Amino acid sequence: MKKILLSGVKPTGRPHIGNYFGAMKQFVNLQDSYQSFIFLANYHALTGTEDAKVMEKDTLDLAIDYLAIGLDPKKTTIFLQSDVPEVTELAWIFNCITTMPYLARAHAYKDAVGKNKEVNVGTFDYPILMAADILIQDADVVPVGADQKQHVEYARDTAEKFNRIFGHEFKLPEPLILEEVKTVVGTDGRKMSKSYGNTIELFADDQEIRSSIMSIPTDSRGVDEAKNPEGCNVFALHKLFSSEELPEIKKRYLDGKIGYKESKDLLIENIIKLVAPLRARRAEIVKSPDDVKKILRDGGDIARERARAKMLGVRKKTGLII
Ligand code: TRP
Repeated sequence: MKKILLSGVKPTGRPHIGNYFGAMKQFVNLQDSYQSFIFLANYHALTGTEDAKVMEKDTLDLAIDYLAIGLDPKKTTIFLQSDVPEVTELAWIFNCITTMPYLARAHAYKDAVGKNKEVNVGTFDYPILMAADILIQDADVVPVGADQKQHVEYARDTAEKFNRIFGHEFKLPEPLILEEVKTVVGTDGRKMSKSYGNTIELFADDQEIRSSIMSIPTDSRGVDEAKNPEGCNVFALHKLFSSEELPEIKKRYLDGKIGYKESKDLLIENIIKLVAPLRARRAEIVKSPDDVKKILRDGGDIARERARAKMLGVRKKTGLII
């Protein structure tokens, strides 16, 4: 019996290569070793958007993106969070055993407060809905970026608390964080993130890739001068895209045998090598949106069946069935 893997992705705009290496690619690599469930977290996205058209478009686009990078509906159950409305019921039940100070300690909530945003209740309660997503499917492992680790801990805590109060119902999930891809640097050397405006879109065309890479600042060392690869943001990206040539590139940096321009050209070439086939596959899939919707519906049926079965146990244990 394979272990159960589950993760959610929020449909909020176009994915960038940080998302690809940080999460998306992992899901594809892991789908052979686990019984996999990947869903589009549209309920979670509702905490940040009030535009139905944007939501619809982002959701369908992201589903297409995942199929394009190789998520295989035969191996992975792909579905919309909102096709399993039982998670909101479970979140409510969890709310009733969760204290406000406990939720107020969540990083994401504190950040939102720190930015002086008017925080909606959905944002405050975000980790509890996420706990419900995870626990309702009996997930063993939850692959996430490092920024989501705390949320998986909330899910574990909540599972333990429920089990203690009402009797054993939930497995304790483990976060799965791939060390090497903890952070992908953006074009300014900081972590690649939409909020910094330093991203390179995964499905960008050649010209967009070229101008993003050319905009990476480098120091003023000339072509023949020795360079420190570890201090160079272009080199940091070579680590992701130029793995075969990496030792050679490193040596050329140290020996003063490569200029930043050449290093960037090489990087651009290697990014395109990786991205072009994904782009081509996407262009095919995008022609049949109904097939994509069917995949999501079928996935939703499977996920909902499991959720219903789980909720039967939860409802019994909490005295909701008489
Ligand atoms: N919070 C996650 C993110 O922002 C998305 C998410 C929602 C999720 N529910 C989940 C991830 C359950 C893993 C498991 O990326």
